This record gives sequence, structure tokens and C-alpha cells, in this order.
Amino acid sequence: MADLDALIDALPKAELHLHLEGSLEPEQLMEFAARNGVDIPFRTLDEVRAAYSFSNLQDFLDIYYQGMSVLQTEADFHDLTDAYLQRVAADNVRHVEVFFDPQGHTGRGLPFEVPINGILKALDAAEEKYGITYRLIMCFLRHLPEDEAFETWKQAEPWLDRIHGIGLDSSEMGHPPSKFARIYEAARERGLKLVAHAGEEGPPAYVWEAVDGLKVDRIDHGNRSLEDEALVARIRDAGLTLTVCPLSNLSLCVVDDLKDHPMKRMLELGLKATVNSDDPAYFGGYVNQNFRETARAVGLTREHVITLAKNSFTGSFLSPDQQREHLAEIDRIAASH
Ligand code: ADE
Ligand code: ZN
Repeated sequence: MADLDALIDALPKAELHLHLEGSLEPEQLMEFAARNGVDIPFRTLDEVRAAYSFSNLQDFLDIYYQGMSVLQTEADFHDLTDAYLQRVAADNVRHVEVFFDPQGHTGRGLPFEVPINGILKALDAAEEKYGITYRLIMCFLRHLPEDEAFETWKQAEPWLDRIHGIGLDSSEMGHPPSKFARIYEAARERGLKLVAHAGEEGPPAYVWEAVDGLKVDRIDHGNRSLEDEALVARIRDAGLTLTVCPLSNLSLCVVDDLKDHPMKRMLELGLKATVNSDDPAYFGGYVNQNFRETARAVGLTREHVITLAKNSFTGSFLSPDQQREHLAEIDRIAASH
């Protein structure tokens, strides 16, 4: 196990499923609340931590949206993003494709440019500062109506050359991907990459809709796809990557025990799964911890771990040449471990 942990630590990795707002650590929550004079219902770090116990996605989302209220200025978004990058540089993460939720901020009165300017400032500095490249994905909140997504799309117009893709997140049940088919079509016409959360809590039918209706380039989570053999074949044959988040799945009761996590089954079915942290400040671990705990719980082998690291680059939106460089480095590191 120690050998596998050392390999996990040493391998270069990409993280493809990370909500920047979900990297808000309890310490930062308190610090930003104090510096911005925002009232929060917690007085101590222990009280914050005690609130981070969830029985489903909605439980978490209620706390997650409340936590966001402390983010008020460009500097807050910069510092949040920079802290995440610094943290994952220590995990040997070399490339990130991160989500942000503009409607979580514009909905409480912040101008669209506040979050995106702060986030981009930190991301643009990351290659020189941490050796990390990036793509930025703007998510739409699926519990809100389609016309609000279009309003956000309009606000994003001046930044569309800095935004690489769109995503779909928030409360899945009752909000199928088809609700956003027209916004995905608009984004596709603009040449943006398309991803969507599907099959985290929602049924296989939602994953079918994401694949065939939204024509996504990648599926976020996708766990419940395994309930439908034809869907598994469709995802595998299309070579679609799943951005899987094991510790998130455990925290949100998508699985009752990490031992029941489908990661190994996904790999054995020939699905291109990857390991990601989702909202690491809330779910108890960054990417290497997700690798380590999953490897231990479901019995991943050294080959599985190497495949997962490779999948993180081949499933990314980096160019084929950039991907090849990372794959060659994985081979070099694997050969020395
Ligand atoms: N927003 C942040 N994390 C999320 C998740 N795991 N599912 C849906 N929406 C989210
Ligand atoms: Zn997510």
C-alpha cells in the first residue's frame, strides 16, 4: 500500500471535475466573512466543520450556496483559486479544468465580472507559479429556469474567448439535461466544449439525454450509467470520459461505503473513468486523497492507478501534443516506481 501511495503521489495528474466554490476551506470561509463583514451562522471552525455532514446532494448544496456568500470581491475569487492551485500543485496536478457557478454570485447581486476576473487572474498566473495549465468551464445552475441561463450566457459574451466550455450542475432530480438543450446548442455553435453533471443522483435516462440530446464531450459523475448496459456500451463506444468523484459520492450518500464504489467496475467495463475531488473543502480530500482512499477501499492495482492518471489527460481538453507529453512523463515516473 505504501508503494501504491508513493506512486499516486508521484504521478502527474489532471483534475477535470472541481468546483472552485467547493474549494472554500472552513478557515477561508471565516477569513472572508470577517474581511467582508458578512454574517455567517458559525462562530468557530468546529461549528463550520460540524455543518459539513450531508445525507444527499441537496443537503450539501444548501450549505455550499450559503458558503459562497462570503465571496464578495475579485480578490476573494483570486485568493480562493490561488489557494486551490497551490494545494493541488503539492499533489502533482499539472492541469486543471475547473468549474465556476456565475449564477451563484450574480443571483446575490455581484456583477458577472467580479468572479471571472478574480478567477482568471489566478489561473493565468498558475503556469509560471505552479506549473499548472488550465481550462475554465462555466456551469449553469439546473434548478433555475432556462431563461436565466440565457441571461447568464449574455453576460458571459465578452469573456467567451476566455471560457473553454459550459457545464450543468446543482440539483439533478427533476431538472433533466433536456431543459437546457437550447443553451447547449448555442454553446456548441460558439465552439465551446460541453460537459454536464448526469447520473450522480439522476437516473440513466438523464445520462442518455446528456449524451444524445446535449451531445456532451464528457460526463460529470455518470455513476448511475452502470444500471443500463446499453448506456455503458454507448459511453464506451463513444470514448466519453467520466469525471468520477469518489469521496464526494461517499459524502453525498451516492454510495453507502467506499468499498461499494463503482470505480474499479467502471475501468473493468472499459469506461474511461477519472478520479476527481468535486468540492474538496466539503468532502474531505483533494485529488491524491481520492486516489488513495479509493485504491484502498476497492483494491485498485498499480495498473489501474496508472490508467486513471492517463485517463485524466486523454479525457482533458488539452491538445493531442500536450496530452502526449504528459503521458510520456507518466510512463517515465511509473518506470521508476
Ligand atoms: N455543485 C457543486 N458540486 C456539485 C455536485 N457534486 N453535484 C451537483 N452540483 C454541484
Ligand atoms: Zn460536481
